[in-house]
Formats: sequence, structure tokens, C-alpha cells
Amino acid sequence: MPAKRSANPVRPRRLRRSAALREWVAESRLSLRQLIYPIFVRPGRGPPEAVPSLPGVMRWSVDDAVREATAAIDDGLGAVLFFGLPRHKDPLGREAVSPAGAVPRAIRGTKEARPDGIVVTDVCLCAYTSHGHCGVLRDGAVDNDATLPLLARMALVHARAGADVVAPSAMMDHQVAAIRAALDAEGLFGTAVLAYAAKYASSYYGPFREAADSAPSVGDRRGYQMDPRNAREALREIALDLEEGADIAMVKPALPSLDILARARARFDAPLAAYQVSGEYAMIKAAAARGWIDEEAVVRESLGAIHRAGADLILTYYARTLAAWDRGKP
Ligand code: PBG
Ligand code: ZN
Repeated sequence: MPAKRSANPVRPRRLRRSAALREWVAESRLSLRQLIYPIFVRPGRGPPEAVPSLPGVMRWSVDDAVREATAAIDDGLGAVLFFGLPRHKDPLGREAVSPAGAVPRAIRGTKEARPDGIVVTDVCLCAYTSHGHCGVLRDGAVDNDATLPLLARMALVHARAGADVVAPSAMMDHQVAAIRAALDAEGLFGTAVLAYAAKYASSYYGPFREAADSAPSVGDRRGYQMDPRNAREALREIALDLEEGADIAMVKPALPSLDILARARARFDAPLAAYQVSGEYAMIKAAAARGWIDEEAVVRESLGAIHRAGADLILTYYARTLAAWDRGKP
């Protein structure tokens, strides 16, 4: 008589016995097509400038940014997203709405080289304002409604240059409605809006602010970005942005917000995106540089978890690296 086994016939390990079985029953698979690659573009010539706290991330001239975007599209990545830097900063962030700025030029160059490549742009003033806030100041506070026309004009400039998607990240109330109305008034019905809908006032953005030279010179962003203690508020923000016409809603930062992604996935049918932000990237880089973690394995696990939680699309500085890993060369 065989040894008495458990009465329960279920053995989850059966489907874990080989790589082929595990691959066969995998519940989620993240593909390069779902990734969005951020690119910092600056005015002027010269070689790419490194960002110390974001190893591997550069600030590119327009021509180099177009080359980088083209390479990213050729890698098979889903989209590129441009962040711009101005020649001069002023209190209103005027260069943000200039058709001759670095971002519109990079958009035109990329769409000329790869008409089918998806080009997204960040729409916010913080890299362009002398004070570093995401909107215009009045009496020391960001004036929501005075900022809206500027964001709308910025989105329009990007759309006219050929951007497929504009991504407002200022966390101004009604920014999506203002942008959608401005685009539609110009007949730009096809330009989509990817809203940074649930964006927390996070400490994980530090390295980005070095890259974009966008740290607020006074105060912080807690008057417009969300309090990390709140989850229901994130769902309200997403609902509002979708009502205002957003086509895609983004949650940010990604790994600290997996609960938000999961709840948003259950509640909304629109595509959801997540931003693996600069601090998430920098932490992995720093630990990997010390040999404390396996970089590729941790990146795949992190992005996989963000996808599993509910993100259809992921914005990540690792996008091109992942493409290289997939090709089997580091
Ligand atoms: C601001 C903006 C931020 C990021 C992108 N756009 C954050 C901020 O400075 O508040 C952060 C992205 C990152 O950390 O990678 N509009
Ligand atoms: Zn901003």
C-alpha cells in the first residue's frame, strides 16, 4: 500500500515543473510594445550631458534626441516621451509655448524619420519656470486657472509639431479639459491625452529634478500633487480626468502605488499607465552598482509587478536597456 498522501489532490507545483510549463500558464506578459521611453531634450549643440543621479540617462541635443528616439522606436518600444529643457527660464515659463523650442523640433525630427512611431510629450511648466513650480505663481502659490491657458498652448504647440499624445503632468485641476478643448478647437481631434492623473507628491522624483533642473526654488509641490496617504483620492482624480476626456490615465510613482493600480484596473476600463520614476530607477542602479542585487532580474520583476497590478503601459528609463537585454546583449 502506498504511503498515505494528503487528501487534497491539488498540487500547484505541477505547473511549475519546467520552464515550458511555467511559460505556458503565465498570467501576464510584458512586451516592449507596452513601454514608453523618456528622453530629455535640450536646446543647443554639443555632446549628451550625463545626469549624475540617473546613470545612463542623458540630456540630448535636438539632433541626438531624434537619433535616440529613432533608435528606441527601432528597438520595438511602444513610444517615446520627450521632456524639454529651455534656453532661458522666466516666471511664466514662456519657452514652453515656443514652436521653436527643443521639444517641438525633436517631435518634428522624429515624426519625419519614423512617421509610425508614437511620440508623447510631457506638458508641464516646471522645467521652464524660473521658480521651478509646475504653474504660474500668484502671491507665492500656484494659480490653477491662470496656468490652464499656458498648459493648453503648450499642448497645442506639441500637437501641431506632430505629437501623437500629450501628457499633462502639472496636476492642475481641469488641465485635461482645458487641453482637450484647445486641441478640439483647432481640429486636432486625433491627438490623444495621457493624463498624469494620480500623481503623488513623492520623494522619488529627486533625480528627475536634477535631470530637468526643475526643483522648486521655494516651497514644494504638495499644494498640487497628491498626499501619498490617500488612495480613494487617486481614484477620484482618475475618474475626473477620464470625464474631462483623458484617453489614458497614469499613476505615479509606480512601485509604491501598486494598490492604486490594482484598484484603478478594477474600476476603470480605460488604458492605464504607470511611471517607474527616477528614484525607482536610481535605487536599482545604486544597489546593482554595489553588487547587492541582480539588476536585470530586479528590473524584470519590478516592471512585471507593475504590469500585473494593472498597468497596460509603463514609462521607464529602463526601456532601451530592456530591449537590449531581450536581444541578449547587455
Ligand atoms: C513634473 C514632473 C515630475 C516628474 C515628471 N514630471 C515630478 C516633479 O518634479 O514633481 C518625475 C519623473 C521622475 O521622477 O522620473 N511635472
Ligand atoms: Zn511640473
